[in-house]
Amino acid sequence: MKPIHLFYLFIVCFTFERCCSSEDLYTALVDLEKLLETERQVINSVDSYLKLEDERLSQLRFIRDNYMQMHQIASRDIHSYLANPVNAYILVKRLTTDWKTVESLMTSGPTEIAKAVFNNLTDLSNHETFPSPEDLSGAVDALLRLQDTYKLDTSTLAKGKIPAGKYSKTNEFIDNQFELTAGDCFELGRHSYINGDHYHTVLWMQEAIDRLDDEPIKTANRADILEYLAFSNYQQGNIRHALHLTAELLEIFPSHPRASGNKLYYESLIGKSTSSKKRGDEGDDVPIDETISESANVFEPREESEREAYESLCRGEKRISARTDSQLKCYYLDTTKKPYLRLSRIKVEEAFKKPKIVVFLDIMSDFEIEVIKNLSTPRLKRATVQNYKTGDLEVARYRISKSAWLKGEDHAVVARVNQRIEDITGLTTQTAEELQVVNYGIGGHYEPHYDFARREEKNAFKSLGTGNRIATWLNYMSDVDAGGATVFPILGITVWPRKGSAAFWYNLYKSGEGDLLTRHAACPVLVGSKWVSNKWFHERGQEFLRPCGLKINS
Ligand SMILES: *[C@@H]1O[C@H](CO)[C@@H](O)[C@H](O)[C@H]1NC(C)=O
Ligand SMILES: *[C@@H]1O[C@H](CO)[C@@H](O)[C@H](O)[C@H]1NC(C)=O
Repeated sequence: MKPIHLFYLFIVCFTFERCCSSEDLYTALVDLEKLLETERQVINSVDSYLKLEDERLSQLRFIRDNYMQMHQIASRDIHSYLANPVNAYILVKRLTTDWKTVESLMTSGPTEIAKAVFNNLTDLSNHETFPSPEDLSGAVDALLRLQDTYKLDTSTLAKGKIPAGKYSKTNEFIDNQFELTAGDCFELGRHSYINGDHYHTVLWMQEAIDRLDDEPIKTANRADILEYLAFSNYQQGNIRHALHLTAELLEIFPSHPRASGNKLYYESLIGKSTSSKKRGDEGDDVPIDETISESANVFEPREESEREAYESLCRGEKRISARTDSQLKCYYLDTTKKPYLRLSRIKVEEAFKKPKIVVFLDIMSDFEIEVIKNLSTPRLKRATVQNYKTGDLEVARYRISKSAWLKGEDHAVVARVNQRIEDITGLTTQTAEELQVVNYGIGGHYEPHYDFARREEKNAFKSLGTGNRIATWLNYMSDVDAGGATVFPILGITVWPRKGSAAFWYNLYKSGEGDLLTRHAACPVLVGSKWVSNKWFHERGQEFLRPCGLKINS
């Protein structure tokens, strides 16, 4: 017995297109605000539909009552009732023209109303923002990414509770008023299924079942949930549980088109694994063990360990020794040789010694930050990464955020910030890239990467003609309610975003060689929104500046 039936249902799901050409609303919180306006329009439409529909139903009720009244009177004494020509006429009319009215009220009615309302909505909302299917899958991916990175428990998350305090300085448990419905959980499970992620499918389908029991108006179909749950359990090698769930499915839906076939298939697998200990006896059915070992080998060991380090740092877990940590200092920047800065006291915190990574505090004022956010908001676009073979810019799932570029000439504040960065680092911004402003929405992140181009990336920065990215200056322009740290997985350090602070490090050794230890990442934003801006310095123009440049005494 082969599990042929099992796969039909899911073919439909697999053809669902995933692509990134849309506007990608979920990537930035500023765009999600637009969706609230869309939602207001939707509420209006449903409301006007219900009004019209109520009217229609009252009409139908009125007609029914009328029919019933007449019918009762007539039934009492049929002969004398019909002896009256007026009554005879009314009866015939009731069943001809009046019936036509009823018919049209009952059939075309709802459709017509819906059409009118939809047309109205489309007219009104030509300029409204509706999220695309890609936005939905982006939002689902974001939630699952957060669940993994921050090790969030499925039930707690479904209740809308997020232990934000662990992943920020704000120290509170975010307790939402809204919980996920069984249908919301089902959708998370279904998307996980489409992505071939049976682990999350099982978690969310189970949560959907648990929630379904408590719902007065069911938001999901129990049979659908059971089918996904059974199949994903089977995929994870949990055949007995798959069989148990399929039996449950058959109880509530005995004529289910695939369940009986699946049940026999699962039974045959279990029969084989208990009756025959010899491998190779299994015919051409999928051996159970293979399914398991296959999924265990998906990641290469090196990749896995970087991801683990990255996620652990995102959660703020300590990964450097107490000794290394105790050597880090805080001090005021020596500004005696920096004419523009002589009067300011700039606080510096060391995040790492070698390579030197420092954090400057109170480097931008709230006013400056607001101006820069305001300038960039209308220009935000989905952030891209450079294809190292072609040098082209493209969107990627491992970098999810929106960004905009600001020139010094755009506003005096931008010029002032550029000048300050130049004064503090002693590097020239002449050859630097424009200020890149980035907004990360919920789940927005940038997986581990280098800022500099490696040797094989010949085309990177070619068009700029100013050499490689010698150093990175990263302004934190917001506090983040939870998550969103900058982490260096090889060094094992976490830099938490603090509004007004800035991180700085060199990407290249003095020789021009890239420093591989500077590999870093932006952790997914768990709660809130994250704004940063980047200034990337390039090699050209720094020849005489770097040796005597950032001389921070320690
Ligand atoms: C269409 O929109 C207008 C303006 O919002 C509203 O007054 C009207 O009732 C709507 N019509 C329908 C059929 O929804
Ligand atoms: C930024 O934009 C907001 C909203 O348009 C406005 O109220 C505020 O005054 C602006 N702030 C600055 C500093 O320009």
